[in-house]
Amino acid sequence: MARILITSALPYINGIKHLGNLAGSMLPADVWARFKRGQGHDVLYICATDEHGTPAELAAAAAGQDVRAYCDEQHAVQKAAGEAFGLSYDWFGRSSNPPNHRLTQHFAEALEANGLIEERVDRMIYSIDDRRFLPDRYVEGTCPHCAYPKARGDQCDNCGRLLDPVDLIDPYSSVSGSRNLEVRDTRHLYLLQTKIADEIRAWVDSKTDWQPLAKSIAYKHLDEGLIDRGITRDLAWGIPVTKDGFPRPGMEDKVFYVWFDAPIEYIGATEEWAGRTGATWRDWWRLDEGADDVRYVQFMGKDNVAFHTVSFPATIIGSGEPWKTVDQLKAFNWLNWYGGKFSTSQKRGVFMDQALELLPADYWRWHLTAYGPEHSDAAFTWEQFQSTTNKDLADVLGNFVNRIVKFAESKFDGVVPEGGEPGELEAKLEADIRAGIAEATAQFEAMEFRKAAQALRAVWVLGNEYLQVAAPWTALKTDRDRAAVGVRTGLNLVALFARLAAPVMPFTAQRIAETVGSRDLTWPGADASLFDRVPAGQAVHAPEVLFRKIEDAQVAEWSERFGGAE
Ligand code: 2FM
Ligand code: ZN
Repeated sequence: MARILITSALPYINGIKHLGNLAGSMLPADVWARFKRGQGHDVLYICATDEHGTPAELAAAAAGQDVRAYCDEQHAVQKAAGEAFGLSYDWFGRSSNPPNHRLTQHFAEALEANGLIEERVDRMIYSIDDRRFLPDRYVEGTCPHCAYPKARGDQCDNCGRLLDPVDLIDPYSSVSGSRNLEVRDTRHLYLLQTKIADEIRAWVDSKTDWQPLAKSIAYKHLDEGLIDRGITRDLAWGIPVTKDGFPRPGMEDKVFYVWFDAPIEYIGATEEWAGRTGATWRDWWRLDEGADDVRYVQFMGKDNVAFHTVSFPATIIGSGEPWKTVDQLKAFNWLNWYGGKFSTSQKRGVFMDQALELLPADYWRWHLTAYGPEHSDAAFTWEQFQSTTNKDLADVLGNFVNRIVKFAESKFDGVVPEGGEPGELEAKLEADIRAGIAEATAQFEAMEFRKAAQALRAVWVLGNEYLQVAAPWTALKTDRDRAAVGVRTGLNLVALFARLAAPVMPFTAQRIAETVGSRDLTWPGADASLFDRVPAGQAVHAPEVLFRKIEDAQVAEWSERFGGAE
């Protein structure tokens, strides 16, 4: 049994997440956590809301709420949405909680002790009308790279480039819209990444098993040359730079930059979890206290990769302390909304709460796993969602379960029949199924989610093909034993398919297992016995429809409601 630590990128607190966010970090992390738990490993899956920085302050202001009250409310909303989607976090924390305050200040002190922090005078945009500095998203303007007119101070949503607010052309305050701005001096702390660039590169070099997307983004940033990074901001909400016993004159009104404290919350949330459950957290994170046997895997969208392969490692490596760093990093591309982008700020696309008003979680979980933006960007369209749902779920998996359990109900009094001996057909089926399970296992191990889903579908197809050939409904007319073998084998496949479906579709997997009186949702190992798990005499019950087909009228209605193609 291995110890596996899993984190998914912390969702910003500013409102419920869209399907693109879900598909690119939280959902695959959950699927993988379930897969690994199903194999019997000791898994700790940690996530949290990312509550600081300008996204939080601006969203609270837009909602007319005090930022702390806004965060309290939105954390609860996001936690509930995650639960409704079956996201099996061991802990869903908050970056604004006390452990993250302590840890963030601790890392800053450790970096300072190692000569990696320097106070510098910055030239920052100051809004005369708002009487404040305008860091990051507080200022908008035209992108100097692509001329997009609504670029934010920290990043251009159009070309994806990271920006410095002073580089924006024709900038204005996103608080008041005022263009009455000037550049003023202000003091900030800088993390001297240039001093440890070689160490960070050596660390990335050592990650020989990372997939190309993560590696290429890491090297792109390293090759462009690391720069020293400002890690404080002129904001009211955040983790204060000064604290009791650690005064920094002139920094009393400053907080740490959100991207400095957010990844530290992976550790902070683990401490929250430990505090609440009585477990220990340092043995998950400190190499000198037991974490040397932990395998740490991170999930995130590609825009987050640089922060996790360069900035956060700079914090950890620069501290000189024996903290656990990531072993495997799984990055995702963009899920697009038709040809364009999902957008939280512009409310374009489908959001997690809306999705569940339309259909149960497992429909979405399957689609976003099997057709997600894994090795390239992928577009969500209602038409494709309809087609994959109807084929994979209704026609293949749902149909198989329904057909065999209903037949057992009507012709065998709703119990698994006795009699007959498995023959060549069953031997061939078993060999094929074992090969299919091995393929799905290998793809999940490699974190190849689309391929794993394809392998699952292929196994379910084998079930349908077997029923076609074994045709117990025909056999029943002449050879009851032969029909009994077909039905018993089919009902055992039902139990097996539930286990295979469990990482991706946990709710439906449970319902499928229940139809044949099983509770086993563990992942089948290579030596699992396949066809004698559901014994003769076991009562079976056909489910209410497992998957309803999506009708054309629904596609039309949802396209109308959510905008669809335009
Ligand atoms: O891009 C985002 O949504 C960020 N909130 C991700 C933070 S990941 C981690 F470092 F906290
Ligand atoms: Zn741009």
